[in-house]
Amino acid sequence: MANDQEKEAAARASLQFVKDGQVVGLGTGSTAAHFIKLLGEQVKNGLRIRGIPTSVRSRELAESLGIPLTTLDECQEIAVTVDGADEVDPQLRLIKGGGGAMLREKVVASATKLLVIVADASKQVPVLGKFPLPVEVIPFAQALVAKRIAALGADVSVRTGADGKPYVTDEKNHILDCRFGQIPDADGLARQLSEMPGVVEHGLFIGMASVVLFARGSEIVELRR
Ligand code: A5P
Repeated sequence: MANDQEKEAAARASLQFVKDGQVVGLGTGSTAAHFIKLLGEQVKNGLRIRGIPTSVRSRELAESLGIPLTTLDECQEIAVTVDGADEVDPQLRLIKGGGGAMLREKVVASATKLLVIVADASKQVPVLGKFPLPVEVIPFAQALVAKRIAALGADVSVRTGADGKPYVTDEKNHILDCRFGQIPDADGLARQLSEMPGVVEHGLFIGMASVVLFARGSEIVELRR
């Protein structure tokens, strides 16, 4: 699949940002999984890093590859995090959370000096919002928050798992997928969502990404903020 090759190429290009001795945030999703696998190879070849995974899935993958891990309890400063994204706009604002891990991803990103986003070219958009914006809510407030976000102009649905029941995040919350179509004022929407009682976190990452590496075929395009 060409798309998957691009994801792998972007992940490979991000390895240049990882240096010996660093604490490294490990993102979540199919592109971040490529990065974790490539990092595992580097660790086997002698690279000494400690990883902080952003999800149970990424932790299990890293463990299976023998990547040494640490936690935010032990270490609150992360030199570099490599993660994927669902959409990236020209100001390097992101939508994340297609994989349901944006809460831990944002916490790790907030403790990170250099957030490197890796993505295939399809993720580059002029305006955010075509991808449904994930909003993590406490189950108790789900219907109320859904109604309030719908009043902002989104078509809102509760994310479900294969069993048809609400998808449960690593932090035991639910996710509302909010279809805005276009988000002309991402900064304003981010503020509105953050202020809504019951919202734990949302997938708008603003002012966080330092570098985005897009793979377009065999070419890597690097954007910096
Ligand atoms: C996980 O919660 C997400 O933020 C992912 O990083 C994002 O959905 C990109 O995923 P892919 O790399 O699988 O496209």
